[in-house]
Amino acid sequence: MLGIIGAMEVEVRTLRESMSDVEALTVAGMTFYKGTLEGKEAVLVRSGVGKVNAGLCSQILVDRYRVEGIINTGIAGSLKNEVNIGDIVLSTTAVQHDVDAVGFGYQLGEIPQLGVKEFPADAHLLEVALKCCREANPDIQTFTGRVASGDQFVNSREKKQWILEHFDAYCTEMEGAAIAQAAYLNRTPYLVVRAISDKADDSADMDYSAFEAKAVEHSVRLIRAMLRAL
Ligand code: ADE
Repeated sequence: MLGIIGAMEVEVRTLRESMSDVEALTVAGMTFYKGTLEGKEAVLVRSGVGKVNAGLCSQILVDRYRVEGIINTGIAGSLKNEVNIGDIVLSTTAVQHDVDAVGFGYQLGEIPQLGVKEFPADAHLLEVALKCCREANPDIQTFTGRVASGDQFVNSREKKQWILEHFDAYCTEMEGAAIAQAAYLNRTPYLVVRAISDKADDSADMDYSAFEAKAVEHSVRLIRAMLRAL
């Protein structure tokens, strides 16, 4: 069974409406919907925004549902010029841009004593997602690359530039790397799938509202195609 974590109500609602045999359970304020989606058993949940919510949500998926893998869908701000609003970024790896223990002898983004700085995504999930995305969303570009997460909505050119310089990531959002860390600690495969809603710069707040719906449409279409293919 696959776990699907969305950060926002709108994406989870869209997927939940096409689920059958749904059993709902609320834990830690998050409602988990177990059921059948595109003929496959899945648990769908809205984690809420930010790394703590995302980490907790992942652990519940592992403990209560014994999921074989976790897919995190949602939207993100683009960090590279060629990644446009509406395009999709699939994670090759995920890092936390707001972790800074440099003064303690670690690299920027590295969590002390864990032994790794970033968390590689599952190669099989990535391969299936890439193939499905090109088929399900032929009118947009699909990128694979590093995702940089942090407890910040990035909406300034300076901050965007800083993340890009230090992490060379394709997009930034607020949950992916926390899910990746939880998946790593539980030896569970994961993938982050993000549709770009804004450019993470001074126009981010405006673009976010205008393009959120379009971006969600692309990620939902991809998740459905992936479930059929897996
Ligand atoms: N999610 C969507 N856009 C974002 C941004 N600019 N920063 C952080 N999370 C986001």
